Amino acid sequence: MAAPAKKNPEHDAFSRPGNRIVTLDEFIIRAEKDFEFATGELTGLLRDIGVAAKIINREVNKAGLVNITGVADSGENTSGDQQQKLDVYANEKLIECLQNSGECCAIASEENDSIIQVPAVGSKQSHYVVMFDPLDGSSNIDVNVSVGTIFAIYRRQSDPSGPATTEDFLQAGNRQVAAGYVLYGTSTILVYTTGRGVNGFTLDPSIGEFCLSHRNLRIPENGKFYSVNQGYYSKFDLEMRRYIDNCSDQNYGLRYIGSMVSDIHRILIQGGIFLYPSTRKYPKGKLRLLYECNPLSLIVEQAGGKSINTQLKRILDIEPKELHQRNTIAIGSPAMVDELKAFIERYSALPL
Ligand code: AHG
Ligand code: MN
Ligand code: MN
Repeated sequence: MAAPAKKNPEHDAFSRPGNRIVTLDEFIIRAEKDFEFATGELTGLLRDIGVAAKIINREVNKAGLVNITGVADSGENTSGDQQQKLDVYANEKLIECLQNSGECCAIASEENDSIIQVPAVGSKQSHYVVMFDPLDGSSNIDVNVSVGTIFAIYRRQSDPSGPATTEDFLQAGNRQVAAGYVLYGTSTILVYTTGRGVNGFTLDPSIGEFCLSHRNLRIPENGKFYSVNQGYYSKFDLEMRRYIDNCSDQNYGLRYIGSMVSDIHRILIQGGIFLYPSTRKYPKGKLRLLYECNPLSLIVEQAGGKSINTQLKRILDIEPKELHQRNTIAIGSPAMVDELKAFIERYSALPL
């Protein structure tokens, strides 16, 4: 996790004199001053991601006007998912922004088979690796529904004098130094954590800056919505079907956008639970541990929520075995995740 914080109320990133606007850049620079031994690399990385997000946002906003919707010529990515043109564009922009500054030494992306080395810029030796899902929910692009970018930052484990290794990326989510997402929705919002709470910054298009809009986000203890692809109901295990029946019995509303980052953002603000259990097509679950589940789990936990797989293991404690590993997930308001856990404990022992 991030370096220990030193007490310095003068530089407290949460203090906001008067009502003046606090930009993302200003916030991360002030937050960095609260960390002893901070080198500025993490600040630089978050800024790079903020710049890439603005570029992707610009393209997402005019997607219907230019020839950037639809399926990419590249076909499928390494996980066997159809690649959209905007998946490819967002991936390229993120890689470009991170390569230009050299603030990280390597990158792993949902859209690339293997890790990408980032050549050092000048004599700078970077201590961080970055992984991301450049565009989450990309099947939504062509129909004008919210999509997002998800990212996670870790300290490399290998010797900094040599190239980064795949093992630098195969770290449990509890070792994330920072994680976040950008949601290109009705407005564009960047939400991130460095392990000291969660803050959200809304893009003000008139000045082209992300401005602090959601300070110290806390997830509601309980919610009235559940989020799952109920079309797969008959393919879910008994305990999951019983839990979903219970949601319906309790009159919880069903909300499912088909872009995890959008569903999680709603849950963070309004409370609720998101489920992606195993199905016949995806016996281990569909969502990717490194690019989707770990970063969103860190954010949700930092906001007071919970995140487990359907074997009841905390997502952040799973030791990854491969870059594109998939897993099941149940994530959201703590009381709802606990309720689901009770259903799994009660029904999973029963014969089908
Ligand atoms: P991606 O667009 O990055 O491949 O991710 C799509 C994921 C996730 O965002 C979403 O929750 C889920 O796939 C939807 O899957 P189903 O269509 O199977 O419900
Ligand atoms: Mn995704
Ligand atoms: Mn994606």
